[in-house]
Amino acid sequence: MSHDSTIRPLISWLYTMNTKISWEYDEFRQVGKDYGDEEEVAIYDARHADFREVEAENARILKILSLKPDGVLIDFGSGTGVFAIQAARSCARVHAVDISQAMLDHARTQAALSGITNIRFHHAGFLNYEHEGSPVDAVVTSFALHHLPDFWKGVALKRIHTIMKSGAQLFIHDVILEDEDVLGNIAALIEKQAAAGGVFLREDAEMHFREEYSTYDWVMDGLLTHSGFTIVNKQIDDGVIGAYLCVRN
Ligand SMILES: C[S@@+](CC[C@H](N)C(=O)[O-])C[C@H]1O[C@@H](n2cnc3c(N)ncnc32)[C@H](O)[C@@H]1O
Repeated sequence: MSHDSTIRPLISWLYTMNTKISWEYDEFRQVGKDYGDEEEVAIYDARHADFREVEAENARILKILSLKPDGVLIDFGSGTGVFAIQAARSCARVHAVDISQAMLDHARTQAALSGITNIRFHHAGFLNYEHEGSPVDAVVTSFALHHLPDFWKGVALKRIHTIMKSGAQLFIHDVILEDEDVLGNIAALIEKQAAAGGVFLREDAEMHFREEYSTYDWVMDGLLTHSGFTIVNKQIDDGVIGAYLCVRN
């Protein structure tokens, strides 16, 4: 028996059992922007309002997903909880997952202030969240998957696949890059951010491309299809902001 054929089933088994492997990527280490910092959390929604219409964005995603009243959704990288709270109004249960305790604390407070009681908060990430209960109807992740390097995005998507119902929907919204004129498009985005939010958003955007792991759309296409998803719709605005609607096979 070859070394390869002995070791591979063992690693797969360890991963399925959620057993920590010594060389696993440390997803709790913040890369780029430090979302574990309470000051960053406190200003997050106001800063993002300079260049996003978050409630409208979320309403569009929820309309596309058309969750049933008994539906269950997971939001990976839930941040300040704005999407989770909106989603919780139209389904039975939302699982809000984030590696930042400061983000989770903020989101929990916001949910309580909004009178929302059907969100469960999890201090976990794409690579270590352990879902208890039945497979879910939908998974959403906005501007969070780029925190993982590409190989680990693949591992994350395969794990997500195992906790979704067959036919369930996956919505990914993130910085995802088209190949053509990629550097020009990134430069244009940085200028757009600077125009919307001055030095803060310029530095934010520059840090994103310098230190975080946004990837090409053709890489994302391959990661999704190899992980057992069918891409139903894909839109890349200005060559840099991607929205993928996928169905779990
Ligand atoms: C840019 S914020 C996005 C927040 C929110 N989804 C939004 O659309 O505004 C990224 C969030 O992802 C979280 N995050 C980073 N790496 C993560 C991981 N491996 N698993 C889950 N969440 C992660 C960060 O802590 C942060 O709250």
